Parts: sequence; structure tokens; C-alpha cells
Amino acid sequence: MPAEGGDNLNRAILSFESVTKRFGDFTAVHELSFAVQEGGVFGFLGGNGAGKTTSLRMALDILRPSEGRIEVLGRIPSRENAAEIGFLPEERGLYRNMKVLDTVVYFGRLKGMEPGAARKSALELLERFGLADRTKSPVGKLSKGMAQKVQLATALVNSPRLLLLDEPFSGLDPVNQTILEDAITDAARNASTVVFSTHVMQHAERLCDRLLLLAQGRKVFDGTKDEARAALPSRLTLTSRLDPASLPSVSEARLVWSHDDGWAEYQVELRPGSEPGELLETCTQQGFALRSFDITRPTLHEVFIHFVGAEQEIVR
Ligand SMILES: Nc1ncnc2c1ncn2[C@@H]1O[C@H](COP(=O)(O)OP(=O)(O)OP(=O)(O)O)[C@@H](O)[C@H]1O
Ligand SMILES: [Mg+2]
Repeated sequence: MPAEGGDNLNRAILSFESVTKRFGDFTAVHELSFAVQEGGVFGFLGGNGAGKTTSLRMALDILRPSEGRIEVLGRIPSRENAAEIGFLPEERGLYRNMKVLDTVVYFGRLKGMEPGAARKSALELLERFGLADRTKSPVGKLSKGMAQKVQLATALVNSPRLLLLDEPFSGLDPVNQTILEDAITDAARNASTVVFSTHVMQHAERLCDRLLLLAQGRKVFDGTKDEARAALPSRLTLTSRLDPASLPSVSEARLVWSHDDGWAEYQVELRPGSEPGELLETCTQQGFALRSFDITRPTLHEVFIHFVGAEQEIVR
């Protein structure tokens, strides 16, 4: 597991150690520990009010933890880290009267880029985000999604070592969501580490290498996507002549369809800890004839529901 252990923390680009954040009597984040290793895409997942934004703000020194320790890029969070971190805040906000290209160049310059390099990178990003014909528009005249893309460009302009993106997909149409997914994948390929928050599991499914799942300020899961899926019982669809409910590793078998020739299709759930391979072996040993054997991998959506509960999920 990535969270604890000195070695991991030493190599981490972002780490939380027993971090608690209280607002008055209310505890928004409870003793949260995790570590993000350098490279790759890390998903910060949880329902509304889970503590994602609060945690990201603490990593950026916008908020201070009540207890615990945070390290970003090997240091305690401070404004000095700003040049190496690209941040997309939850509350979007740019200067409404500034033109699109000037805005992105301005952020590049703030982060220490030379004017020529900032302009080149800004133009490339605006082209990529389909805003090449809007470079001279004031930001205030753009649609919400377009303004969001400009803000994303300000986060990406200097190819920072760490990208912290709070709900980067919200407000984007499907075409722009795909463009952003590609931009995130490319950033990670080009040596940035990307941490993004979402409660839309499909993005996490496609993008994340590892994920942290928060519910009401507490960590409920931390690990790889495969580890997350393995936390749920395996499910299979079988076509057999006998009812698989009699097999020891099966916890539930539901008849879906009976064929005229004696074969029937079942949906089967295995007991926790049982593997599909075990079931196949038992079937072979017991002469339990199978005509089909399909494993259904749990989706992250199901993992989310399993850990966080259906009432927490909001799909935008
Ligand atoms: N400044 C504040 N004062 C008081 N409570 C706060 C403050 N900021 C956040 N909270 C509370 O902390 C909890 C976590 O909020 P946070 O914004 O971190 O959630 P989130 O996971 O980002 O949710 P969402 O998906 O809705 O953006 C919420 O209950 C929220 O009301
Ligand atoms: Mg939030």
C-alpha cells in the first residue's frame, strides 16, 4: 500500500500523514494518510462534501491542517511551490477583461517562463483546446466551458511537475472531456504527476493508475484500480447443465435463461476471496459441463457504491 512507510513517503511527490481539518466543531477531513508517487495519474474520488477540495487546498497552503503533516514536492506546502504546481481550483476565476492568450501567457510568466516560451506554449494549448480563434476575446465573453479550458491552459502552461485539478471535467461537453482526458494522459507521459478529483467514475476508470476514495472526510480505499475491483466479489456468467449454486465457492447463482436443450445461463457471484480460476477447476474435477464461462469485472462505479454507498453518488 502506498500510504505508510518511510521509503514511500520519501519518494512521494505529495503525502498526507494523519491530516485532520476542522472548521469550528465540524471535522471535514479525519486523520487522512496517503502518498502519491511521482509520475502517473492519481484519482481523488469521493461524493459531494467528502473532503476533496479541502484536501487539495491544504496541499496548496490555501488552508492549513488542524493536525498532521503534508509534504508537497518534498517540502511543507507553501506559496514557494506555486511555480511547480499547476492548479485548477474548484471556484473558477480569471480576469474577465483580459484576453484569452494574454491570460495564459500571464500565468506562464508568473510561473517564471520567458515571454517567448510562455506564448508558444499558450498558443499550442489554446489550439489543442479548440480556442485558436478566440485568442483575442476577453475571457468574460466566453462560454462557461470555454473559460474552463482557458483556466486549464493556465494550469498546464509551464508543464509543471505536479498538476492538481479539482473537478476538471465538470462543465465540459463530451468532446471537450475527451480532449481533456488526452491532455491529462499526455501531461503524465511528459513527466508531470496528475492528481484530479472527481465523482464521475468513468473518468477515473479511464485515467487513473491509483486512486484514493474518501467518504465524509475519511479514507475508505487507497490503491490501484485492480485492487479496488478485487475488493468486490467476482461475478461470472455461466452456461451449464447443472445449477452452479451447489458449488462451494459460489455464494449466489441466478438463473437468467433456460434453453430447450437442457443448458441454462446463470449469473453467479463468488464468495469473497474465491477466484474464478478455482471455480473452473472445481467444475472440471466434478465433471460439471460448461458451455460458456465469462468473468464480469466490477466497474469503478460499483466499487464506489460498495465503499461509499449509493446515497453519496451524484453523476453530473
Ligand atoms: N470554509 C469552510 N467552513 C466550513 N465548512 C467547510 C468549509 N469548507 C468546506 N467545509 C465543509 O467540509 C466538507 C468537505 O467539503 P469539500 O469542499 O472539501 O468537499 P468535496 O469533496 O470537494 O465536495 P464536492 O464534490 O461537492 O466538491 C463539507 O461538509 C463542507 O461543507
Ligand atoms: Mg470539491
